[in-house]
Amino acid sequence: MAIKIEQVKSVLLKNARVVDPQVKLDQITDILIEKDIIRKIGPVREFKGKTVDCKNKIVIPGMMDMHVHLREPGEEHKETVITGCHAAAAGGFTELACMPNTKPPIDCRSDVEFIKERAENHLVNVHPIAAVTIGQAGEQLTEMGDMIEAGAAGFSDDGKPVLTAALMRRALEYATMLGKPVIDHCEDLSLSESGVMHEGKISAVLGMPSIPSIAEEIIVARDLLIAEYTEGLLHLAHISTAGAVRLIREAKSRGVRVTAETCPHYLVLTDEAVRGFNTLTKMNPPLRSENDQKMLIRGLKDGTIDTIATDHAPHAIEDKECEFQVAAFGIIGLETAFGLIWTHLVEKKLLTLEELILKMSVHPRQILQLPENKIESGAPANLTLVDPDIMWTVDNTAFESKSKNMPFQDWKLKGKTFGVINRGKMILTV
Ligand code: DOR
Ligand code: ZN
Repeated sequence: MAIKIEQVKSVLLKNARVVDPQVKLDQITDILIEKDIIRKIGPVREFKGKTVDCKNKIVIPGMMDMHVHLREPGEEHKETVITGCHAAAAGGFTELACMPNTKPPIDCRSDVEFIKERAENHLVNVHPIAAVTIGQAGEQLTEMGDMIEAGAAGFSDDGKPVLTAALMRRALEYATMLGKPVIDHCEDLSLSESGVMHEGKISAVLGMPSIPSIAEEIIVARDLLIAEYTEGLLHLAHISTAGAVRLIREAKSRGVRVTAETCPHYLVLTDEAVRGFNTLTKMNPPLRSENDQKMLIRGLKDGTIDTIATDHAPHAIEDKECEFQVAAFGIIGLETAFGLIWTHLVEKKLLTLEELILKMSVHPRQILQLPENKIESGAPANLTLVDPDIMWTVDNTAFESKSKNMPFQDWKLKGKTFGVINRGKMILTV
């Protein structure tokens, strides 16, 4: 489906359930938008402009995905800034942060500017995350201040961990002084080695080289200690293990300034899915055990895990249509995230609508120290439109993303976003 971006002169969202826990709003009413501003929240009669019928639909603050791989520059055959933004909008996101592990990595001012320019006129706001070390090589820190001036929203060597404790310490000190977090990919490389799946009963049965939970937890523990020592702003990416949740919970209880994310795939799949050697179940960190999944959900519920991000990782067909051991790590997620979370968590009463809004809209902005996005009269109109009842079947041939790699093809889901509004633009996907 080709995406159509409309300019908003004035639009009326009619009879919507408008929900924003930030302003304690949960009401069936109308929203009048003029250009990029919310003019009125309340009944509007006599309106001649464009009207979107939102009966039995929900309007929430525009969702943000803080962990996306856009592949530009260097691998534009997998994704570009624009196709990634289209995919984000199709999945209900109005904002995203993109990781710097492009080719070459985003590690200087002009690289950050390049990404910002590419996304300049899109409905979706793009916040580049810049590399912690030059070339993500784990040796020398980048010019962080310079890149923040150019619009970087945080720092990460994602794809890899920040290699040494000394680098992590300096990175946290500088980034925190500049008001932005360091986002770490927690993996002790000496333990993950050439592993391709979670270490447990199933890897033993399959005889596959594996990645133990402690590969993640050792770096989580290291980072928490350094964050505590430096009072730095630490964000832990794609948390996948019960032990990591426990460590983060304990650190938070002592006031360490740490936030954490997990991804939809860890919440809906376990390492059981790897039995068929489907390379679309290969990602890093790997799908973990049922107990890990249970503890991630508990961590989401009790506030240990602050946000759900997709780790949208586009790969070409040839990178996945090969033996499991040599296939690339990662799956795309922008266009399935909402439906998966709605169907498998909200419908099953494991997460409330308000919690979903906090995890997928409010917290990512707080973590990256970005302006808040509230549904209030006079505020910028940055909104996601949700159809909570629609039944749909995942079909990656209809995706906006250039890549199709994900294990959810033909899954039946309930709940989908059907539009986004931001920056005076609107995309309706029905
Ligand atoms: O599965 C993954 N894919 N994990 C990462 O950390 C990197 C990502 C990628 O860039 O493909
Ligand atoms: Zn990633």
